[in-house]
Amino acid sequence: MAYDNIIVEIEEHICTVRLNRPDALNALNLELLRELGKALGEAQKNDKVRCIIIAGSEKAFAAGADIKMMSEKSFTDVFLGDLFTPEEAAVMRIRKPIIAAVSGYALGGGCELAMMCDFIIASDTAKFGQPEVNLGVMAGMGGTQRLTRLVGRAKSMDMNLTGRFMDAEEAERAGLVSRVVPCKELMKEATGAAKKIAEKSMISVMAIKEAVHRADQMPLTEAVLFERRLFHSMFATEDQKEGMAAFVEKREPQFRDK
Ligand code: HXC
Repeated sequence: MAYDNIIVEIEEHICTVRLNRPDALNALNLELLRELGKALGEAQKNDKVRCIIIAGSEKAFAAGADIKMMSEKSFTDVFLGDLFTPEEAAVMRIRKPIIAAVSGYALGGGCELAMMCDFIIASDTAKFGQPEVNLGVMAGMGGTQRLTRLVGRAKSMDMNLTGRFMDAEEAERAGLVSRVVPCKELMKEATGAAKKIAEKSMISVMAIKEAVHRADQMPLTEAVLFERRLFHSMFATEDQKEGMAAFVEKREPQFRDK
């Protein structure tokens, strides 16, 4: 399918979605977000796709929601139009794993989009921030919520209240990103991680994603029980038999998503 604001490539079970508004540092307008939602929905339906990567350019993952698109809007426009709610939901309902490959600016809605992904691999040039406070507004797609859960209240308050940027090294220390690699290595690293995931049973992979997302949504005892019941349910799968037999027989498993 042809898109105007993103580039989608599917290769070796990996769907890579590149945000592509270079003149606006990939600022997220509604057209781009709707295309992204559509592409992710297609990737979810496509049996060939086993892992998704969202990336931007070397200079910017995304420099935020499109300020020019929002500047003239009224309260009524954004409240009645429910700005960004369906667009966020379209990302959050994807059950396959999504890796954010972040280079350069991931600001405002850009940082929030990266945090909607399952984990973030950053280049050493990455800069994360919630600078909405400088525009007389505040984060609106999870910047006060997901960021707080990921890095804790102190750093989240600092970033949201001062609008300062966090570099890649600090972001890794704070737990916002899982790995930092040299800029030139970013896509190789993200693709390598995606390929590793693609080799696993999709049953395990999708159940793990569901379980980890419960970690910040449920009390611990309930969440651990949810995890254990999923674990138990895997003993009904052929992939569990294959995975454990392969270990015992000292060979690589051949998972069939059954
Ligand atoms: C619209 C943007 C943009 C944005 C950059 N551009 N960010 N356009 N919305 N968020 C455009 C610029 O207007 C400019 O276009 C071009 O991209 C290049 O940007 P420059 O500013 O010239 O680049 P540079 O000097 O390198 O500075 C990079 C930057 C700066 C530090 C990232 O662009 C910046 O501060 N951008 C805004 C960051 C921000 O406030 N993000 C939060 C947005 S609000 P022209 O045509 O002028 O050359 C938000 C709300 C989310 O995200 C809540 C709900 C989702």
